This record gives sequence, structure tokens and C-alpha cells, in this order.
Amino acid sequence: MKKRVLSGMRPTGKLHLGHLVGALSNWVQLQDKYEVFYMVADWHALLSEYEDTTALKENIYDNVIDWLACGLDPDKATIFIQSEVKEHTELHFLLSTLTPLSWLQRCPTYKEQLREIKNKNITTYGFLGYPVLQTADIILYKAHCVPVGKDQLPHLELAREIIRRFAHLFKSKVFIEPEPMLTRTPKLLGLDNRKMSKSYDNAINISDEPDIVSKKVMSMITDPARIKLTDPGHPEVCNVCAYFDVFASQKKKEVQDWCTSASKGCTECKKILAEILIERLKPVQEKRKELTAQRSKIEDILAKGADRARQVAESTMEEVRRDIGLV
Ligand code: TRP
Ligand code: SF4
Repeated sequence: MKKRVLSGMRPTGKLHLGHLVGALSNWVQLQDKYEVFYMVADWHALLSEYEDTTALKENIYDNVIDWLACGLDPDKATIFIQSEVKEHTELHFLLSTLTPLSWLQRCPTYKEQLREIKNKNITTYGFLGYPVLQTADIILYKAHCVPVGKDQLPHLELAREIIRRFAHLFKSKVFIEPEPMLTRTPKLLGLDNRKMSKSYDNAINISDEPDIVSKKVMSMITDPARIKLTDPGHPEVCNVCAYFDVFASQKKKEVQDWCTSASKGCTECKKILAEILIERLKPVQEKRKELTAQRSKIEDILAKGADRARQVAESTMEEVRRDIGLV
């Protein structure tokens, strides 16, 4: 029996290179070794984007197209939309009855987001329960492992605590405690050296056309000490060099050499990087084009995925209702 994996992504905008090297390439690798469930977490997106939902449906399709174009295979992976499996809300509610408020209020991601997010009102009842919904997502499928970034570790820990409380209260053995699967991919920074994020407008998107990729690469911040072409650079502090490391690691040595010897300027260096990224994205974008023209095929994949997910979720909920004493 293969171990089960579940992961999700919020459809809040276009996916970028950070998603590609961080989550997606890992998701693709896992689909051969594990029984994988990959979910579009649209309810999670709604928790922060409820004021404007006009792009939500489009984002869902656009993201799923990226997933498939990057190599997720619907014959291996169960790909589905969270809101199409209503059991997530039922379990979320049941878990919310036994989750102490203090666990949620002291969650570091929650405190950070309250501090950072200023343009949206996230002081809602729903947003506080974000990790409770995420717990429901994971345990509905009795996932053994959850591939996530470091930022999500507090949510996994909370999930484990909620499960222990559930098990204790109802003498229940329905749920297993999921293990985080940390992706060891290097962190790609944005064009401006800040965290790559849609909200900073500093990302190269998977769907960016070659000329956009070039333009964006040209705008990347380099070694600030390299003012003139003849100044030797410091590749270890340059984000362009970090990109080479991720997308063409075999070239890193060469880049370091031409940088420290000042034999190539930053513009030339960036042109070479842009070409590499454009080549890397080319097959993905060709697949994207194909898939974009096949809306009904995507709908079909998502319908089948939801059916499969629902089967598992319904069976878990029968056990849950029984153990709580509702039936
Ligand atoms: N919170 C996750 C994120 O922002 C998305 C997510 C929702 C998720 N449900 C999940 C991830 C379940 C893993 C498992 O990245
Ligand atoms: Fe960065 Fe390349 Fe310029 Fe060196 S030559 S500072 S690696 S962009």
C-alpha cells in the first residue's frame, strides 16, 4: 500500500517560478511514489479574498492548467477543488467545536498576517479558523504526509494537536497524525530580492511570455557594489547568480568566474539567464496553450477528481459521525 499525500494551493493569482521550483516539481515527483491528492484550496482563498471574488473561478482553472502543464498526471494524482467536496465544511465545523480559541490566536502565521496584511480585513471569524479548515483538508483523506513549505509547519502542528484532542474526547482512532514533508528546494527571491509574491509584483509567472521574462530579468537587482563594467562582482550576494544555481546549476561556476573577473557585465549575464528561463518555460507554455483550448477536458479531470475525493471523504465522515455519537 502506498502512503497517502495531500497538499493544496490557494488560487489567489497566477503561479510563478517560486511555485514551480518549490511546490510543483516536488508534487510531480511524489505522484509516482505515493497516492497523491492535490487540492485547489478555493475556500482558503476566500478567507482572505472574500471582498472580491471576480477572478476566483478563472484563477482556479489557470492554476490547474499550470499544474497539468508542469507534469501532474490526472491518471496518477487526484486533482480536485476543495469546495466541490462539501465534507470539508462538515469536518471543519465539527473540529471547530473542540478547538480552543487560544490555539488559533497564538498561531504564529495568524499573528504575522494580522501584522502584515493591511489592505484586507482579515479580522473575521472565518480567517481565525484557517488552520482548522486546513486540518479538515488533511485528515479527511487520512493523509500520512503533507508536502509544505516551512511557513506551514505551525499549521501541521496544530492539526496534530486537534487530532489528539479529537482522539482523546471521543476515544477515536479514525485519524492519523500527518507528518510534514519539507521541500528542500532553495528559496527563490523575487526580482527585488524580497520574498517572491504576487502582492509585491516581483515574480516571474509560469505563463509569462518570453519578452516579459526578458524584461523582468533585466529589472532584477544585482550586486549593488558593481557599478562599472570593470568592477568585479560578488556573485554570492547576487540574486541573478542564485537563479543560475536553481535553473542551471552546471553553469554556476562559469557565472561566478565571469562575475568576479568582470569579464561579463550584468546585462550580458542577465541575457543568458533570461534565455535559460525562457527555454525552461517553453514546453510548459506549449502544454498550457493546448490545455487552455480544452476547457471541457479540465472540467472532466476536476469532476473525476472530486468524485474520487468525495468517496474517501464520505467514508471518513461516516466514521467521524459514529465516533462523535451523532449517529
Ligand atoms: N495553507 C496552504 C498554503 O497557503 C494551502 C492549503 C490549504 C494546504 N489546505 C491545505 C496545504 C492542506 C497543505 C494541506 O500554502
Ligand atoms: Fe550578478 Fe551576473 Fe552581475 Fe555578477 S555579473 S553581479 S552574477 S548579474
